[in-house]
Amino acid sequence: MGPDELPDRGSAAGWAARLAQVESRNVTFLGSIPPFWTHASGGAVRDAANRDYLDFSGAFGVALAGHRHGLVVDRIREQAGRLVHGMGDIHPPAIKVEFLEALAALLPWRSSGTILGLSGSDAVEAALKTAQLATGRSGVIAFEGSYHGLTLGALAATDREHFRRPFTARLADHVRFVPFPASQSEAEAVLTRVSELLARNAPVPVGAVIVEPIQGRAGVRIPPTGFLAELGRRTRAGGALLVADEIFTGMGRTGYLFACDHDGVVPDLICLGKALGGGMPLSACCGPPSVMDAWPPSTGEAIHTSTFLGHPLSCAGGLAFLAVLEADDLAGRARRLGEQALGYLTTELEGCDRVVDVRGRGLMLGVELRKREDAAPGAEVAARALGRGLIVLAAGQDGEVVELTPPATLTRKELEKGLKTLVSSIRSAS
Ligand SMILES: Cc1ncc(COP(=O)(O)O)c(C=O)c1O
Repeated sequence: MGPDELPDRGSAAGWAARLAQVESRNVTFLGSIPPFWTHASGGAVRDAANRDYLDFSGAFGVALAGHRHGLVVDRIREQAGRLVHGMGDIHPPAIKVEFLEALAALLPWRSSGTILGLSGSDAVEAALKTAQLATGRSGVIAFEGSYHGLTLGALAATDREHFRRPFTARLADHVRFVPFPASQSEAEAVLTRVSELLARNAPVPVGAVIVEPIQGRAGVRIPPTGFLAELGRRTRAGGALLVADEIFTGMGRTGYLFACDHDGVVPDLICLGKALGGGMPLSACCGPPSVMDAWPPSTGEAIHTSTFLGHPLSCAGGLAFLAVLEADDLAGRARRLGEQALGYLTTELEGCDRVVDVRGRGLMLGVELRKREDAAPGAEVAARALGRGLIVLAAGQDGEVVELTPPATLTRKELEKGLKTLVSSIRSAS
């Protein structure tokens, strides 16, 4: 796309002023004017002012296959020429069957059942309901720092005061939080606590332990090796189900199909989202029949469904994404590019007194910065990087981490260019 072909889209300030007139004021932060995206392709984004950016956020981790992958666009276009909307659970779109079959072939169980949704929160809601039906227990153990979404069920298992405080009165008191371990010794203590909570029937018996295999929004926090496998054993011994929230980490992002694969653990339920739809809204709660058949057969009225369930265009995006995942070996690319990125950042940032830690697995990387009283250092670096044409996001409870979740389709040259920009943005931050 040449700049000459672009219509005059006005300034970002103009878009911001218009948005402020029509959108609820809590939604978009307009304190500093953001770029208003108009085009994206691969790892590149263009805004309304015709500025180009390299997207190392993958747009919240969604664009694992890159923005507008050719196969995804073709498949959506083709589907749009036939059927845009169906009736998910009444007159199912045929393409829903095709997508579910393709997904089932990748899941770790010989056979499986899946409930589709449109957002990550949808998948978490479905998983928590499933666990309650399968165990007859409504209690949940979740982890400090967790992010599982903001709908009320998912929010109850999300540990962020910012999101919880205004709605505390509506958050059911059935979730207990335990620390997310960073070391083997912490892991021991956490596992003991989990076993205690599972053995106790108060306030309600626990039916689900929900965990992000790597905590994303908490700042790319990676648990010690073996922790997830032992968590799975203890959870089952306590009569509950292990729910892996792989919405951020899944589908190749960390160098394996699922981040749980690093620990060789097969959870009882897996939540997927973000990358799954190739950019279209699509999520899934998946499990084996031994768990999913806790749902009764439909008698004509499903007890958990929604208008757009199995949306044909989302399923088309999802089918194309799964084809790209295999054809382009996205997991392998994430592993190799991730190793290169981690090596580069570790070397280049060594001795930088602003940097506390550089960590990551595959293309889910974090640079933890020294905390400051007056500002979120990750957000400051993200703003500097944006000014230099690189999109990254801040993560962590206090915005102390710069999080990188770029497309796995980046070229090595693009990767190097973005990493250089990031390092100079960190070095020049106050
Ligand atoms: C691990 C995890 N779970 C759930 C969600 C919620 O997904 P959504 O924002 O699509 O509802 C997110 C979103 O960032 C996430 O990172």
